[in-house]
Amino acid sequence: MSRASPVFGTGNEGSFTPGLPLSLEPARRLIVALDVPTPLEAERLVERLAELPVVFKIGHQLAYTGGLTVAERLAKAGREVFLDLKLHDIPRTVEEGVRSLAGFGAKYLTVHAYPQTMRAAVAGAGASGLTLLAVTVLTSMNDGDAEEAGYGHPVAELAQRRAVDAREAGIGGLVCAASEAASLREVVGPDRVLVVPGIRPAGEAAGDQKRVTTPADAIRAGADRLVVGRPITAASDPLAAARAIIAEIAEGAA
Ligand code: C5P
Repeated sequence: MSRASPVFGTGNEGSFTPGLPLSLEPARRLIVALDVPTPLEAERLVERLAELPVVFKIGHQLAYTGGLTVAERLAKAGREVFLDLKLHDIPRTVEEGVRSLAGFGAKYLTVHAYPQTMRAAVAGAGASGLTLLAVTVLTSMNDGDAEEAGYGHPVAELAQRRAVDAREAGIGGLVCAASEAASLREVVGPDRVLVVPGIRPAGEAAGDQKRVTTPADAIRAGADRLVVGRPITAASDPLAAARAIIAEIAEGAA
C-alpha cells in the first residue's frame, strides 16, 4: 500500500467485507462518483478529496476515456474503488469480463440483477475478493418508466424480486433506492452491503434522479454506503461539499 502517494492520498487502509459494522466511520460510508470526462479531471478531484477515506466510483463516462487505469492506480495506492460498469450480456461474456476486471484490484463491481448475468458474474469473480453488487432497479426509474420498459410490476416489487434472485446467485450486495433499503435488507439479511445512490442533501437539485433521499435519511433507512455524484463533482468546493455530506451521514448514524 503506498501511503506516500500525493495524488491518491491514504486513509483508506481499512478493509471491509459485506455486512459493514455499525461503527464504520461516516466518511467510509461515502462513495464519490467520479463522473467526469477525463482521467486528468478525475485525478484532480481525487486529489482535492484525498484526505477523506471515501470510496471512489468509476462509471461509464470515465471508464471509456481511460478510467480503468485510474481505478488500478487508486487501488494500488490503497484506496477502495468501485467499478460501476453495470454489466449485462450473455453468460460467457459476463463471466470473462468480470474475470478481466477482477485484475484491477477494485472492491466493488456492479452487474444488472438478471439471474443469468449474476450467476456468470459470481463465477467470473471467483475468489478474487471483488464484491459484486446487483443493480435492482435504477433510481432514475419510477413506475411509469418500468411500465414503458415492458415490466408488469411497480419498481418496488421488481426490486424485491431481484433482491431474492441476487441472494440466490450469491451476490455480495445490492444497489437500491433508500426507500427500498429496509424491505430489501429483510430479503438479503445483515451480511450483504446495501449501496444507495440518488442522494441529495436537503435543497439540492434532483437532476435526472426520480427517487432521491437525503444522506441522513438513507442511512436511517438501512443503507451501508451512499453514492454521491453531482452534489460533490459540481460543487465549487468539492471537499467542503463532501464534508457536509459526511456530517449528514454521521447525523443519520447517530
Ligand atoms: O450525480 P448523482 O449523485 O445523481 O450520481 C449518482 C451516481 O450513481 C451515478 O454515477 C450513477 O451512474 C450511479 N447510479 C445510480 N443509480 C443506480 C446505480 C448507480 O444513480 N441504480
